[in-house]
Amino acid sequence: MSFDAAAYEAFYRRSIDDPHTFWAEQAQRIEWHQPFKQTLDYSKPPFTKWFVGGETNLCHNAVDRHLATRAGQPALIAISTETDTETVYTFAQLHAEVNRCAAMMQALGVKQGDRVLIYMPMIAEATFAMLACARIGAVHSVVFGGFAANSLATRIDDAAPVLIISADAGSRAGRVMPYKVLLDEAIELAQHKPSRVLLVDRGLAPMSKVAGRDIDYATLRQTCLDAVVPVVWLESNAPSYILYTSGTTGKPKGVLRDVGGYAVALATSMDLIFCGKAGETFFCTSDIGWVVGHSYIVYGPLLAGMATVMYEGLPIRPDAAIWWQIVEKYKVTRMSSAPTAIRVLKKQPLELLKKHDLSSLKALYLAGEPLDQTTSDWISGELGVPVIDNYWQTETGWPIMSIAKGVGDKPTRPGSPGMPIYGYKVKIIDETTGEECGANEKGVVVIEGPLPPGCLQTLHGDDARFVGTYWRNFKRELYSTFDWGIRDADGYYFILGRTDDVINVAGHRLGTREIEESISSHCNVSEVAVVGVEDPLKGQAAVAFVILKNAAPAATPAGAQALEAEIMKVVDHYLGPVGRPSRVHFVASLPKTRSGKLVRRAIQSICEGRDPGDLAVIEDPAALQQIRAALAVLPVS
Ligand code: PRX
Repeated sequence: MSFDAAAYEAFYRRSIDDPHTFWAEQAQRIEWHQPFKQTLDYSKPPFTKWFVGGETNLCHNAVDRHLATRAGQPALIAISTETDTETVYTFAQLHAEVNRCAAMMQALGVKQGDRVLIYMPMIAEATFAMLACARIGAVHSVVFGGFAANSLATRIDDAAPVLIISADAGSRAGRVMPYKVLLDEAIELAQHKPSRVLLVDRGLAPMSKVAGRDIDYATLRQTCLDAVVPVVWLESNAPSYILYTSGTTGKPKGVLRDVGGYAVALATSMDLIFCGKAGETFFCTSDIGWVVGHSYIVYGPLLAGMATVMYEGLPIRPDAAIWWQIVEKYKVTRMSSAPTAIRVLKKQPLELLKKHDLSSLKALYLAGEPLDQTTSDWISGELGVPVIDNYWQTETGWPIMSIAKGVGDKPTRPGSPGMPIYGYKVKIIDETTGEECGANEKGVVVIEGPLPPGCLQTLHGDDARFVGTYWRNFKRELYSTFDWGIRDADGYYFILGRTDDVINVAGHRLGTREIEESISSHCNVSEVAVVGVEDPLKGQAAVAFVILKNAAPAATPAGAQALEAEIMKVVDHYLGPVGRPSRVHFVASLPKTRSGKLVRRAIQSICEGRDPGDLAVIEDPAALQQIRAALAVLPVS
């Protein structure tokens, strides 16, 4: 493609100046059962309704629509190096499985608008279940398998599902990770009790079934082999799914998305940002439990008529050539991953990257955390393809910033995820005055409403929290991303970390409050602060500082080590290994303001060897000394 920066500028301007015409055009990328009557209704800001009156269906557009032209082509490539299985489902086969799953759900009483919670490993049935929900207008809520009983229980209570779909177990590095046991515990903890639980038995772990509640997936499937379940046409603004994400409080936020806007946004992004073509293969290495998996393992590639790879396993097992083996075998053209995974690969023998023919691959897209230039240059050099950083959030569902190579071939800039994507009116705002910052001035990254199609409509069941959280500042016209950023003189943006207490560990978004709450459940913990500390591999690592009720058990190095392990186990149990801090330090006090608020930023600065800045807000500056002293104690090896 020729260098044409102006093409993008003009395209972008049109999306901002005339969103109605712009998005009405993009909406033609999907099929509508009923055309929409109004492109955008922004009469009740900040609530946005796209394609009002239009009727469509995500499953129809992702699956049924392709049957006429590509029924026999691969749609879902499910690979597990954990169970040594590999199954390719054509669009026709995927269609049949989704119909079966939809019939199973209906048999279990699921109706349009009902919530279905999916707590599953990366197996094909998880994709069938998501698409089956979309087909019958049920609202899915996928919970990441790395979350444990307590986190799961919170989500069960918030989503109040009529049905939960799960499995006996997942597997990680050859170790069986129980799902059913954790699910039973979560249902026990939750106030809301789902009437039915549908279980895929992979034969990995024994499952005890609750009579009258638990149903075997394979058995019920046998009764639905020939099922034909018509697509339920949904008004564009009907809910498609809830996806929980972390925020400042311990209570996760249920991001709620629509149907039509999401379909249009993803179809457009597949073409203009990811440049994927129907008939090609897309490989996104994320997990269906995260937004990247929703958008770019399941819905995006299928909407585009591409085959999508669903991979259960590590990037380095059986060895670090596994991803490239998949690329070669399935002629992957576009790949999406996270910087941490690339940093992991960088530590592996280089020849493993060279073992396979990667000539099909056209570009690698990285998202979820800041991309450092060393990592980007290394992988781009080794693969011989462009690396394209893209910045977005669970809330937006698709990239806010990147370089949309499908529109105009603007060059990328090291350390920058690029420029605002069409549809996003991005600004950098001074935190206190709300004024727009000048070039190279640090401020909060905000998006002026209306948000483009595909972004969250609200938080499930809590409009007030949606408005109060994201649109609190700056006259309710600006959506806060809660990220710091700067824009350089040429219009490239740089993301400088979160403004709130959210941390990013290996591309996973975690709330420090959630980790603190699980640590607090240990009987000897009096107070705790968790901060995200710079980590060369994972971007950030969670580090905990704990005040004990009884300090005696931690008085000796061996005692402290045992207690540290115990606390980590508590986090594993309540939150899941995903939230486990890398270290737990014991201190006698924590830096707080006069009103008792923890000053996490000061703790973080000390951990990262930086100046903690203005100490005037801290009531007891000696507490900082405690942090320094705790860090000086080396772990017992
Ligand atoms: O802080 C930003 C960081 O990840 C947050 C969103 O995480 P999550 O909701 O899990 O969605 C991930 C979707 C890719 C953001 O607020 N983040 C995401 N992408 C980037 C990033 N930080 C820097 N560069 C990125 N490309």
